[in-house]
Amino acid sequence: MTLTLLFSAPDRTWPAYETVLQQALKTAGIDADLTRSARPDAVDYIIYAPNDTLTDFTPYIRTKAVLSLWAGVEKIAPNPTLTQPLCRMVDPGLAQGMRDYVVGHVMRYHLGMDRHIHGLNGAWDHITPPLARDRPVTVLGLGELGQSCARALAALGFHVTGWSRRPKQIAGLTCVSGPDGLKMALKTGEIVVLLLPNTPQTENTLNAETLALLPKGARIVNPGRGSLIDDDALLTALDAGQIGHATLDVFRTEPLPQDHPYWAHPNVTVTPHIAAETRAQTASEVIAENIRRGEAGEPFLHLVDRAAGY
Ligand code: NDP
Ligand code: OXD
Repeated sequence: MTLTLLFSAPDRTWPAYETVLQQALKTAGIDADLTRSARPDAVDYIIYAPNDTLTDFTPYIRTKAVLSLWAGVEKIAPNPTLTQPLCRMVDPGLAQGMRDYVVGHVMRYHLGMDRHIHGLNGAWDHITPPLARDRPVTVLGLGELGQSCARALAALGFHVTGWSRRPKQIAGLTCVSGPDGLKMALKTGEIVVLLLPNTPQTENTLNAETLALLPKGARIVNPGRGSLIDDDALLTALDAGQIGHATLDVFRTEPLPQDHPYWAHPNVTVTPHIAAETRAQTASEVIAENIRRGEAGEPFLHLVDRAAGY
């Protein structure tokens, strides 16, 4: 039987997927019509990235699952019209991209690279950075991406503390959870990486109170979600020197509005939600495998816990 697969994602993503997704489906032995528009009651699976056209899933009565091309699912997980299973993207390309981004920006802070890149103006003053093993780094979120980044940083010698919702034990990392765990993780974090999902529980994880727990001059790298940080509190903490610098990839409003104070702040680096893109090649293999599973009656991979919101 030929399956109908609706590719419901912004136009700009289609060229990257059109061929490689067809190929991945073929390799997985799936006979499918991959289309950009179809009668809702004929659609077997929806391949989804946030877009304005598909917000009501009610007419998709035959659809067996919605397969997100994004790891973060806050735009679709709370949708009450979606009653089918929702799977999010977990993909080796995404994880590699995030490791590259996080390790790069942590290294920038750790080595104090800006001093040399922007020039010493003739000041031959040696400031030796500590060794990685003497630099405590905190990673908030120990899921697919946080854990991958935390392990990569630990492999470089950093002392990494990770915080998650549920308790964990991971070799080479100090793992904490719950409100007391967050306090512990922040007290030591000279560099803090945020890789939490956007849920009601994670909103403003970094706020005036928690920013004050960090060592003075701490640096922040946020490729998680804009909602994780209280922006006003961060700007106040930056101006006071409590936070030395922040690298922000994600924002409450994207693109970040031109008049937002982050753009002009001397101690903020803005990157345009590019920490980790879903890579069409590897992501197509994940999508094809999930459709294969759905058709074989096997459990889907990477199911979203709709109650938890991620
Ligand atoms: P996962 O769902 O695998 O991991 C989420 C982690 O956050 C888990 O460790 C989870 O804890 C923890 N967590 C969730 N809620 C809480 C809470 N209330 N308190 C403490 N910890 C909590 O997600 P990924 O690692 O795959 O992705 C993380 C986020 O990264 C995405 O949701 C997305 O927002 C962002 N992202 C950004 C990209 C970019 O380009 N900027 C690209 C891709 C993703 P537990 O382990 O106990 O469940
Ligand atoms: C995201 C993604 O969640 O690009 O930001 O997957």
